[in-house]
Amino acid sequence: MDFKNYIADVKDFPEEGIVFRDISPLMQDGEAYAAAIQKIVEFAKDKGVDKVVGPEARGFMVGCPVAVELKCGFAMARKKGKLPRETVEVAYGLEYGEAVLQLHQDAVRPGEKVLVCDDLLATGGTTLATVELIEKLGGEVVGLAFLIELLDLKGRDKISEYDIFNLMEY
Ligand code: PRP
Ligand code: ADE
Repeated sequence: MDFKNYIADVKDFPEEGIVFRDISPLMQDGEAYAAAIQKIVEFAKDKGVDKVVGPEARGFMVGCPVAVELKCGFAMARKKGKLPRETVEVAYGLEYGEAVLQLHQDAVRPGEKVLVCDDLLATGGTTLATVELIEKLGGEVVGLAFLIELLDLKGRDKISEYDIFNLMEY
């Protein structure tokens, strides 16, 4: 399956100069969405994953179905102010802006093997912040999985010590 046929390229969104790679056509097609999730499951299945963590919001779309397939838990990394209980937090930069990401204190237990899932790797800021949160809680990151990697932005350089999977590269 050519997954790129299911990505809409939107020029100058959310600001001038950005080509936004929109995954919503892929998710709107049941077969393509399931096939994409299955590729990540294959990457992760022998890693002994205890928990999947996905950053808000599109990381949920990828991480949740992967967690269900792997029969492990899922934890939400959310932008500041959304999680109701005690949290850990990290500030980070992304392709278009800055934010603070949080995880609940009990989202990952010490020693748990964690897979991070997101739709897209751009500058790597979101992924690095997610990894830092997991490691603050004593988790071990065993893989990072994305539908899309934007090679020009060199996000991979920030997270090169980890095992990275992508389904599509631009
Ligand atoms: C997007 C995308 C990734 C992140 C990638 O999320 O879903 O999480 O940017 O960029 P980076 O590698 O430069 O950090 P965004 O923060 O736009 O949030 P959303 O998923 O809620 O739209
Ligand atoms: N997140 C960061 N950069 C992005 C892009 N170019 N397209 C879609 N999501 C993004």
